[in-house]
Amino acid sequence: MKHYLQFSDLSLEEYAYIFERTVYIKHKFKTYQKHRTLVDRTLAMIFEKASTRTRVSFEAGMYQMGGSVVNLTTGDSQLGRSEPIEDSAKVISRMVDLVMIRTFGQDKLTAFANNSRVPVINGLTNEFHPCQILADLFTFFEHRNLGKSPLESLKGIVVAWVGDGNNMANSWLQAADLLDFKVHVSTPSGYEIDPRISGLKSAKSFKVFKDPHEACKGADLVTTDVWTSMGYEAENAKRQEAFADWCVDQDMMALAKPKALFMHCLPAHRGEEVSAEVIDGPQSVVWDEAENRMHVQKALMEYLILGRQTDTA
Ligand code: CP
Ligand code: NVA
Repeated sequence: MKHYLQFSDLSLEEYAYIFERTVYIKHKFKTYQKHRTLVDRTLAMIFEKASTRTRVSFEAGMYQMGGSVVNLTTGDSQLGRSEPIEDSAKVISRMVDLVMIRTFGQDKLTAFANNSRVPVINGLTNEFHPCQILADLFTFFEHRNLGKSPLESLKGIVVAWVGDGNNMANSWLQAADLLDFKVHVSTPSGYEIDPRISGLKSAKSFKVFKDPHEACKGADLVTTDVWTSMGYEAENAKRQEAFADWCVDQDMMALAKPKALFMHCLPAHRGEEVSAEVIDGPQSVVWDEAENRMHVQKALMEYLILGRQTDTA
C-alpha cells in the first residue's frame, strides 16, 4: 500500500506512468467518454482548512470514475472534539478505500497514514502541497512539450519561485530534485526556504536569490503564491510589509524567457503577490492549472487504489 504524503513519495517511473495516464484520462473526459474504474470505491475527504479547488477536483473526479465521496470537516466531526487522529484513522479507513486530508502539521497527516488501512493523500499541509505540483508539472508539459514525454519536457527547465518559502515552495524543491530541473528561489528575509523540510538529496536543484528580478532571469516558468498561507493569518500585517517587493509584475516576466509561463496555485490576490496584468495576461496558465488538478488526481487515485492499469481503449 502506498501513501502520497509528499512529492518524494513516488518514483520517476511512477510519475512517468501517472502523467501518461493523465493524458489518457483527460482525453476521455474531453471527448465525453466514461472512465469508470473506481465503481463502488469510496473516498473520504477531511478538511481542517478551507478549500475550493481541492474539494471540487477530488469530489468531481471520484464521481466521474464511478465512486463516491464522504466529506468531513473539523467542525462537523469528532476531529474537532479532540478524538485522537490515530483513532479517527483506524475507524475511517475501515469504511473507505482512500483518504484525502488537508490539515496543518505534516506530523498529523503522517500519524493518520501510520494508522490507516488504506492509502492517504496530502491535500495540503503547512509543509507540502504535492497534488498542486503534480497539476503544475502536467500543465507545463501540456503547454511546452515540444514533442517530448512529460518527464523529458521538464528536465533542465528553470522555475522561478517568487515569494514565501512555504508548502508550495517545498514541494517545488522536491519535484526539482527528483525530476532534474532547477528552482530559482527568491523570498523576503525571514521567510526563506528550509531545504531540510524537503529532505533534498543535494543542493543542485535550487539556487537562492535576494532580488526576485534576478531569480526570474531566463526562467521557463515564473510562479508565486499568497503572501499569507492558511494558518498564518496572525502574521498578515507583518507579511504585507515584508513581501511588498515580491509582486510578480510585467517587469519580472520580461526578464524570463519570452515564452515563459506564469503559474499560481490560486486563490490569488491581485496587486499583492501578482499584478492583474500578469495573472490575467497571455503568459498565465492558471485556469489550466486549476482544471488539471482534477485530471492528475484521477490518475493518482486510480493508481493508489488499483495500481498500474493497462487499458487504453
Ligand atoms: N490550489 C488549491 O489547493 O486551492 P484550494 O485551496 O481552493 O483547494
Ligand atoms: N500556500 C497556500 C496555498 C493555498 C492553496 C496555503 O497554504 O494557504
